[in-house]
Amino acid sequence: MASGVFGAMICFFSTGKDFFMIPVITIDGPGGSGKGTVSRMVADIFGFHILDSGAIYRVLAFAACKEGTDLADEDVLCALARNLDLSFRPVDGGVAPILGGQDISKEIRNETTGSAASRVAALPRVRAALLDRQRAFQQEPGLVGDGRDLGTVVFPDALLKIFLDASAEERARRRFLQQQAGGISQPYEEILREIRERDDRDRNRPVAPLVPASDAVTVDTTSMSIDEVVSTVARLARERGIGS
Ligand code: C5P
Repeated sequence: MASGVFGAMICFFSTGKDFFMIPVITIDGPGGSGKGTVSRMVADIFGFHILDSGAIYRVLAFAACKEGTDLADEDVLCALARNLDLSFRPVDGGVAPILGGQDISKEIRNETTGSAASRVAALPRVRAALLDRQRAFQQEPGLVGDGRDLGTVVFPDALLKIFLDASAEERARRRFLQQQAGGISQPYEEILREIRERDDRDRNRPVAPLVPASDAVTVDTTSMSIDEVVSTVARLARERGIGS
């Protein structure tokens, strides 16, 4: 019997240890800082999974708007968050959010949905309702996750935490070009105003505000190319033993 208990203990500890050894790289930062692109490219280098946590908040906001839910109604939003029929399908260059069987990548990628997402994301119980869904992405061989609070709240034990930043003007310019490439036309000035408002809401909310984790490496991408940012992150990851 003693050996049975001992065996169960070993099994328990090794399972726990293996789980916590699955490496996680978190890339947090404001909208338009390049998190999504950098995450995808770093995940490609190491063959890791991707978590686009912003997409989860965007899908929730999109579903709420579609149902006519008041974006301040925390009870209804919590229930919606818990029951969201959301999955991600690998596509060329990333993952596509599938809501109720439908690919809604295009529908969620505009500043209006981004702003709605930042309103629902300011509600503490909504954030709590989405935590397990995000943590479930920590799978072998590893994970690159991007968002606002991945290093501070979702994966506080991540092996490498990056905080990507860039000026609001540069981020608006990137978003403008990205939208144009995707066939969406929104004036630059309007994007800049929405980005500033969203920054303000994300940085000043009482729960999980947008701040670098105390052990994060901040990279200002204003005058860096994507390739330079990716190689900086990959180098920092290798220095921590990732990919070796
Ligand atoms: O990163 P993205 O622009 O897609 O995120 C949309 C919004 O979702 C953000 O402005 C933020 O308010 C919210 N968000 C968050 N925490 C995360 C990811 C996104 O609050 N981890």
